[in-house]
Amino acid sequence: MDKMSATVQKLFQLAMKNKIWATFIIFVKFISFISIMMYLRIRDEDVKHSLPIEVKCPATVPYTLSSSSPLSGHGIYFLETSDQTNPNFLVMCSLESAARAHPKIKVTFLMKGLRKPARPKNLGISLLRCFPNIEIRPLNLSDLFANTPFASWYASSQFRWKPYRLPILSDACRLAIMWKYGGFYLDTDFIVLKNLKNLTNSLGIQSNYLLNGAFLSFEQGHKFIEICMQDFVDNYNAWIWGHQGPQLYTRVFKKWCSIKRLRDRRVCHGVSTLPPEAFYPIRWQDWMKYFEAITTTDFNKLFQNTYAAHVWNTKSQRTGLKLGSKTILDQLYSNYCPSTYEIMKMYL
Ligand SMILES: *[C@@H]1O[C@H](CO)[C@@H](O)[C@H](O)[C@H]1NC(C)=O
Ligand SMILES: *[C@@H]1O[C@H](CO)[C@@H](O)[C@H](O)[C@H]1NC(C)=O
Repeated sequence: MDKMSATVQKLFQLAMKNKIWATFIIFVKFISFISIMMYLRIRDEDVKHSLPIEVKCPATVPYTLSSSSPLSGHGIYFLETSDQTNPNFLVMCSLESAARAHPKIKVTFLMKGLRKPARPKNLGISLLRCFPNIEIRPLNLSDLFANTPFASWYASSQFRWKPYRLPILSDACRLAIMWKYGGFYLDTDFIVLKNLKNLTNSLGIQSNYLLNGAFLSFEQGHKFIEICMQDFVDNYNAWIWGHQGPQLYTRVFKKWCSIKRLRDRRVCHGVSTLPPEAFYPIRWQDWMKYFEAITTTDFNKLFQNTYAAHVWNTKSQRTGLKLGSKTILDQLYSNYCPSTYEIMKMYL
């Protein structure tokens, strides 16, 4: 005890000796803390205040898009399984690019946070509503999962309060959508370059060892999707990232084709796996490439066999897009979602 109070006393003396310095350092720290807080506040308010909640539809929205209902089983679906109802620029770009590449197909954006009567007023939804072939609808999980293997899984609350809850929910939803409606499913961090209508019963290869379910194209009620749903609930594991995602598609495809390695078969029993350049032209490990400048010629070469480019949002979202910088991402936006790009130029 004595020893301790002696130490405290010594420290105190030392502090007194260095009082001026200590005060100075504390003062500097305090000031920088305050300025960081103020900067964050201002920046926050900046973004909030500069974004209008409604926009006039840009003149670049093509008038050739059709609002008629899609051929059954050929719609394009996007999902928001969090309660977020304020689509960011990447989500806007993703939907716009899909709508443009498919003038005669309905693009449906299902949002869990949307309640029927209350339409959220925000920039993203305001812009998306300019496109006649985009429809924004509430996503009701118990309705979607009804009459699928997910119904009891969802009711059992097995999946609640676990890590990766939102991605897992999204993994389940896309399978239920493919099963019930058929058509195309795309993650909201894809930018669509080409029409997808020739691709049926297929999914993309992400690497030598993995398929990815960020893009899916299947006919309604397809056996492959049925097996995926059953495998999902039978082998459910909330603790392993991707267990219900890439790893699920990979193990089901191997069983489906009775193969050991993914590269042993590309097509079997009517299901095709598409080469990485079709949907994942830049590997996730290389996501920074999207922020590198590139010539138009190299851009065209890079994407000549690409239907849609997955920009790996979880990696890339914190890196800002510089408009006009001619980076790959900048060129994807300006070429394939010019209306979103126009809005970004006005408000970013
Ligand atoms: C979903 O639909 C069911 C009826 O089909 C309804 O009881 C439930 O309240 C709905 N949930 C939401 C969140 O709207
Ligand atoms: C789709 O397939 C048809 C016939 O196989 C072909 O003529 C057409 O060019 C293809 N379209 C696209 C966008 O790949």
